Amino acid sequence: MSVSIRSVSKTFIKGRQEEVKALENINLEIKQGDFVTIIGPSGCGKSTLLKILAGLDRQYEGSVQIGGRPLHGPGIKQGFIFQEHRLFPWLNVEKNIAADLPLSDREVRKKVDDLLETVRLKGFEKAYPSELSGGMAQRTAIARALLREPDVLLLDEPFGALDAFTRTHLQDVLLTIWEKKRTTMILVTHDIDESIYLGNRILIMTQRPGTISRSIPVDLPYPRKKSELPFQQIRQKVMIELESAGLFSEKMVKG
Ligand SMILES: Nc1ncnc2c1ncn2[C@@H]1O[C@H](COP(=O)(O)OP(=O)(O)O)[C@@H](O)[C@H]1O
Ligand SMILES: [Mg+2]
Repeated sequence: MSVSIRSVSKTFIKGRQEEVKALENINLEIKQGDFVTIIGPSGCGKSTLLKILAGLDRQYEGSVQIGGRPLHGPGIKQGFIFQEHRLFPWLNVEKNIAADLPLSDREVRKKVDDLLETVRLKGFEKAYPSELSGGMAQRTAIARALLREPDVLLLDEPFGALDAFTRTHLQDVLLTIWEKKRTTMILVTHDIDESIYLGNRILIMTQRPGTISRSIPVDLPYPRKKSELPFQQIRQKVMIELESAGLFSEKMVKG
């Protein structure tokens, strides 16, 4: 589904006097099937924006439409994947994926089994979150979000806490799903390479007040090779943008 964000602003009131302008005048048109990555320093309003798109925060100015309809709250249209997996510790992997849907239902069972295959968790369906590695827990969370077949998947630094190998694997899992389902993806990251590896459009967000300062198209075919020249050229373009916006930080390169 398409996502249309028009003149969205958000101010937090801190205490009696202080106001934090977290978002100012965000305008974005995201087409059905786009893979948009948003990169920006911590505190620039990325999570605030995603929460608004998820329908979790309704206190904002401006308007948001998903699939051409005004957004009224959380719904099955939007899936959300957080930085921490947020699994239920008392439920095993397959029950976490199914969550409030009955596994006894044949259709649910089939979908859960297919997803276990997709995220490569076959054999771990009875394991509890405490028995999983960080990558496996995050794969469970991805499967849980996908079971609802969202039209838009919102991902807030989903791989930030994982090692480079696990991260690359999960990025590939995400691309496989995207190519199969053409779900509209909006992924927030502070890792430059991740933004280029995944996105067909990179949005650069700047701080105080949080706004989108630049949109960089990435016309490279998938799967992309981080070591190759065209990738490096885009990388340089993104770095120049970040530097000129005074945003450059070591953290964003190391990932
Ligand atoms: N619930 C809140 N109350 C007050 N200020 C908040 C709240 N949530 C976020 N902020 C502020 O809004 C700004 C943007 O935060 P956030 O969207 O979390 O940034 P990011 O995800 O880019 O790191 C920050 O200055 C943050 O301190
Ligand atoms: Mg955040």
